[in-house]
Amino acid sequence: MPANIVLGAQWGDEGKGKAIDQLAPDSTWAVRFQGGNNAGHTIVFGDTTLKLHQIPSGVTSMDCNLVLGDGMVIDPWVLEEELERWFSLTEERPEGNRLFISERASVILPFHRLYDSADKIVGTTGRGIGPAYRDRIERVGIRFCDISGVISDMDKISNITIRMNKQLDSVGVSERITPESLKSDLQWILDRYPNTIRHTGLMIDSALQNGEQILLEGAQGAMLDIDQGTYPFVTSSVTSRANATHGAGIHPGHVEQCFGITKAYTTRVGNGPFPSELSLNGGPGQHMAEVGHEYGTTTGRPRRTGWLDMVALCDAHRFNGYTGLVVTKLDVLGGLDEIKICVGYDFDGEVIKYFPSTSDEVARCKPIYETHDGFPSLSDEEWISMADRSRSEGIGYAAMPDKVRHIVERIEFLSGISVVSVGVGPDRKASIAKIGGPFDVRSE
Ligand code: IMP
Repeated sequence: MPANIVLGAQWGDEGKGKAIDQLAPDSTWAVRFQGGNNAGHTIVFGDTTLKLHQIPSGVTSMDCNLVLGDGMVIDPWVLEEELERWFSLTEERPEGNRLFISERASVILPFHRLYDSADKIVGTTGRGIGPAYRDRIERVGIRFCDISGVISDMDKISNITIRMNKQLDSVGVSERITPESLKSDLQWILDRYPNTIRHTGLMIDSALQNGEQILLEGAQGAMLDIDQGTYPFVTSSVTSRANATHGAGIHPGHVEQCFGITKAYTTRVGNGPFPSELSLNGGPGQHMAEVGHEYGTTTGRPRRTGWLDMVALCDAHRFNGYTGLVVTKLDVLGGLDEIKICVGYDFDGEVIKYFPSTSDEVARCKPIYETHDGFPSLSDEEWISMADRSRSEGIGYAAMPDKVRHIVERIEFLSGISVVSVGVGPDRKASIAKIGGPFDVRSE
């Protein structure tokens, strides 16, 4: 059995969790391969809403093993909070049983959070992600497999502390790390996760050899990729397909499907250019924010909103090669008189269909739109009943009213990617799958 990948195709928060939720029951392993607790996904469990940041979304499938992979930066204290919340809901303790931390993942320490708090430019989540990756690239970071070696060497501890304090000083942060606090923090990690820190690449590889199915869960999105996104307003990892297997410790030949997840419109949190951005004060931008509840899961910041940007989506496809597209939150557009799709940019008088390489140039791009008829707003129940009908009658997208289906067909045409599923509400049942596609439960 192969590995499948789920990736955000925009600036994050595309609703990847729902697609993962649908794919996880067929997978025996769900693996995060990059990022850390800058990501956030919301899981609805009975009457309770659970916000998770590092635990893979596949956690709700009780037979699914969970890996925090080699390419991640992991905050062990935030993980502890997530695990405690999970335990209080389910009485399950997955750590060491079905949840494993890669030995090769980097540790996010209090120093990284403090350093990140000095960011004034990017608008980071403040979780220490960039500083932890910076240490990794400088080859001075601490990976989970390094902890015991560091603890037993007081000279090393003291040198690390001196370096950290110099760096905090250089960005005007007054807090200091002491050798004692660093040592006790590292000791706490070893004590808290005794059977959990493993060579997860070997575990996943052996699962593949046993014919098991792997789900590789991307965090953030294509436009936040450090190499391919809107640099410097990006996250500090490769969020794309090329890193999915590498960050999990397996080779790319295992991959069968790579799903790109896109909202039917666009959102972005943090700073940086956003050509199809709309105002949040009235009009369709405010409609998207309010109807779509567009607030960040990790920071609670209001998300910026805008029309669907096909230039961004096609760029994301260029370096991810999606085998299928999942369009989420199409229902949110209900009630707008007209729906626009950005199909190109006016860049200093020239029409372009690619992302220029500097953020200043992207900021100068003016969106060129095509305009489509809107469709009425429907209740959650009406959308669910449409999705139910699509499944029970086996008619796929034919269950959608013409004007709704037209938007889906237009996205498919403009992107050149098969739209395999369309989300029409937060409920698990509120998805309409393409007939015969990978999300069509009838084709199992
Ligand atoms: P960092 O990843 O915390 O360094 O933040 C860098 C940029 O990526 C900021 O603009 C963040 O708002 C954005 N970002 C990071 N993670 C996410 C995410 O999961 N969803 C949306 N934006 C994110």
